[in-house]
Amino acid sequence: MEAHNAPMSSFDKVIDRTNTSSTKWDRYSGRDILPFWVADMDFEAPDFILQAVRERLAHGVLGYTQPPQALNDGFLAWLKRTYLWSVDQSSLVWLPGVVPGLNLAARALAKPGGSILLPAPVYHPFLGLSKNSGQRAQCVPLVRDSSSGQWVMDFDALEHYVDDTTTMIAICNPQNPTGRVYTRQELTELADFCVRHDLVVLSDEIHCELILDRESRHIPIASLNPEIANRSITLYAATKTYNIAGLSCAVAVIPNPAIRRRFEAADSGLLSGIGPLSFAASQAAYLDTSPWLERLLTYLRNNHAAVLKAAGSRMNPVQATYLAWIDVSDLRLTNPASYFEEHGLGLSLGAQFGQDGHIRLNFGCPISLLEAGLARLERALEH
Ligand SMILES: Cc1ncc(COP(=O)(O)O)c(C=O)c1O
Repeated sequence: MEAHNAPMSSFDKVIDRTNTSSTKWDRYSGRDILPFWVADMDFEAPDFILQAVRERLAHGVLGYTQPPQALNDGFLAWLKRTYLWSVDQSSLVWLPGVVPGLNLAARALAKPGGSILLPAPVYHPFLGLSKNSGQRAQCVPLVRDSSSGQWVMDFDALEHYVDDTTTMIAICNPQNPTGRVYTRQELTELADFCVRHDLVVLSDEIHCELILDRESRHIPIASLNPEIANRSITLYAATKTYNIAGLSCAVAVIPNPAIRRRFEAADSGLLSGIGPLSFAASQAAYLDTSPWLERLLTYLRNNHAAVLKAAGSRMNPVQATYLAWIDVSDLRLTNPASYFEEHGLGLSLGAQFGQDGHIRLNFGCPISLLEAGLARLERALEH
């Protein structure tokens, strides 16, 4: 069935986000440019989350707040139920965001003259980790697998670049921007690599629930075996899945107490606490067992099919996330931002992720909006 013939769903509702100081929409305010860049969706958060926030708000006192026990319990139960990974509550460090967690981890493990391995292209804050922690970045390009065409880790290159300055490897899984979900085999090989070279693995798994490909399953790398768990920092948040990125809340899972102490010490007063409304929203998210998420995934799969049709062989099918990574290198654009803006599209540019000649398109929006954007994209790609 064509996407636009699908029955009305709550995800079809177009909500005007202008005049809400939305990061995504304000960038192009007053211009005929549709925003498909930053990774938040244009959908309402589910009612059970909004209701939890309303209930907390109704109390009226919004003081400094600790992570509620029900949130800890809910998160640990979710991790066990969804990924068969049991961890102790003492392994958890709650954070006001995944990006602060990435930076704390890089600082915590930094050593003079140290370096970080970064499979890339990758979500742009990864590319700032080395500078922010006074280390060197060693980007290791992901490569296209000759049979599947998918972006995979290049283990020969990793072996080539690792040396005794390397402190950690930082991965994003599911991968932003390529949409890859690393397989058990890839993760096992990576875990062995970390053990062999005495590295910590820093794994950003914020997109783990947004699996679109029915053949793919998310596996937390740290859940593979106790050896890799003991040298891991894994970051989660409910904010992408439930579209509550403005209610900043994330959590680091760090089973090794020595690494955890260094991680906590790296904060040294830089981070703010997490607000009670953010805790309430995340708690409701981790307790969710309703059909909402499955409905969201069905909608995103339909949107994905529309993007795939418009972009054709320029993109690989996205295994997870609501982000399409589209090859536009043949257009040889000197100023891709203005080129796509002239075609009425606000996109993320490949260079930001360490791979020029690509654009990243966020398809987490009502299909009517997406179709308007894809018509513009097709015109842009024709030239
Ligand atoms: C891979 C990845 N990590 C982290 C973030 C942001 O996380 P936070 O808002 O919790 O810092 C994003 C947002 O797009 C992301 O795609």
